[in-house]
Amino acid sequence: MNKRDMKIDNRDSINPDGKRFRYHVSTFGCQMNDRDSEILAGMLERMGYEKTGEMNDSDIILLNTCCVRETAENKVWGRIGELKALKSQNPDLIIGVCGCMPQQPEVGEKIRRRAPHVDIIFGTHNMHQLPKLIDRVRAERKTVVDIWENEVDIVENLPSKRVAGVKASVTIMYGCNNFCTYCIVPFVRGRERSRNFPDIIREVGQLAGEGYKEVMLLGQNVNSYGKELKPPSDFADLLLALDKIDGLARIRYMTSHPRDFTDKLIEVIAESKKVCEQFHLPVQAGGNNVLKRMNRGYTKERYLELAAKIRAKIPWAGITTDLIVGFPGETDEDFAETLDLIQTVRFDAAFTFVYNKRSGTPAAEMPDQIPDEVKKSRIQKLIAVQNSISQEKNLAEVGRTHEVLVEGVNKGEPTLLEGRTRTNKMVLLRGEKDLIGQIVYVNIIESGTWHLDGELVARC
Ligand code: SAM
Ligand code: SF4
Ligand code: F3S
Repeated sequence: MNKRDMKIDNRDSINPDGKRFRYHVSTFGCQMNDRDSEILAGMLERMGYEKTGEMNDSDIILLNTCCVRETAENKVWGRIGELKALKSQNPDLIIGVCGCMPQQPEVGEKIRRRAPHVDIIFGTHNMHQLPKLIDRVRAERKTVVDIWENEVDIVENLPSKRVAGVKASVTIMYGCNNFCTYCIVPFVRGRERSRNFPDIIREVGQLAGEGYKEVMLLGQNVNSYGKELKPPSDFADLLLALDKIDGLARIRYMTSHPRDFTDKLIEVIAESKKVCEQFHLPVQAGGNNVLKRMNRGYTKERYLELAAKIRAKIPWAGITTDLIVGFPGETDEDFAETLDLIQTVRFDAAFTFVYNKRSGTPAAEMPDQIPDEVKKSRIQKLIAVQNSISQEKNLAEVGRTHEVLVEGVNKGEPTLLEGRTRTNKMVLLRGEKDLIGQIVYVNIIESGTWHLDGELVARC
């Protein structure tokens, strides 16, 4: 794979009031988008812009968008609508819409038609071109739509403005080859491309040097990491190498596809010091008919076997999942199998979704789309069953001692600190702010559905 680096000049970044241009980036969607937004912010800062938390104080506003479900797109349309008033107050304001939503066929044009106050529309494959697009809109003074149909080689060494804190995200691969029949992601993110091994090791080493304690390795399917590299590489070997980096305390990753989760990977996670015992393994559905039509590549039995293997090797492992209800043709019996699966695996937590038709995906054309009221009643039932499992699992933690990385002050209750166990359970505790960034031992004294309450026992 060719690696291309990009240089960005510090441009003329002073506005007519003699102040530095200010930028605001709003991010919708998944952690990959959060990471992309750090790079968009990095490029803007390299150009001389400074960050502002206020949209009405900005010279450029970027919306980095998501289209995984209609609700995500509706939020973006709502925000685009809100920006119209700001643009009429400040005609020099540059508004950009980028990322997954305009990458869908015809959506870029739809944004141009429906929202003429948007100045730049670009997709997922040419984010690195942001500085050029800004120059173009300034020079041409008309909407620039630049959406590349195909993915390009990974562009390394783009500047990045990371959120300060204890944790950092590192994208290890882009795109997805799986084409689950309900999912738009492969269409908007292109084919799988892995970053070179040394580039990832270097980046994680730098982050550890800067004081970050935890890294989250990102990809739509991290366990296909390295397959197309020359020579091929694999995710387990990457974890082994990252485990040796001094100063780093924890490694997490998301998302891993159950079909590709190898015994070697379970072994490496069990043996490693830093890779957390957290397994996010989206199952999506419990019935084999639905799994087959979703093109997930495993059966309910294979999934149960995988969960059992993980628990046999690491009995305290946290296992979480994603679930979809109301996939086309899902019968009451199929849904009962999903309930049965969650009761068998007893997930620590689950992200639950109602199936949403995405134009251009095979499932959108499937017969027997499920009526909204049936979807609604199934999701309510699913959430109720999973919540009671999560509560029971959290209750079982009371009295246990956990290693917790303290991440910061709790937003809802600022007298409390918050952190996570290795198994990714949120823990609230009392303590001085100097604990932030430290690994501590915490005794769990109470539990809820989403978090645990703990008492500091000792610093590591
Ligand atoms: N790559 C990850 C994987 O395979 O598990 C997930 C990526 S996707 C951004 C996150 C979750 O959104 C999926 O696991 C799935 O549960 C859900 N999802 C994707 N497409 C959906 C759709 N059309 N309707 C409802 N939920 C959907
Ligand atoms: Fe979507 Fe499936 Fe790829 Fe995940 S693995 S991003 S659900 S197509
Ligand atoms: Fe959404 Fe794109 Fe992520 S569609 S979930 S932001 S990859």
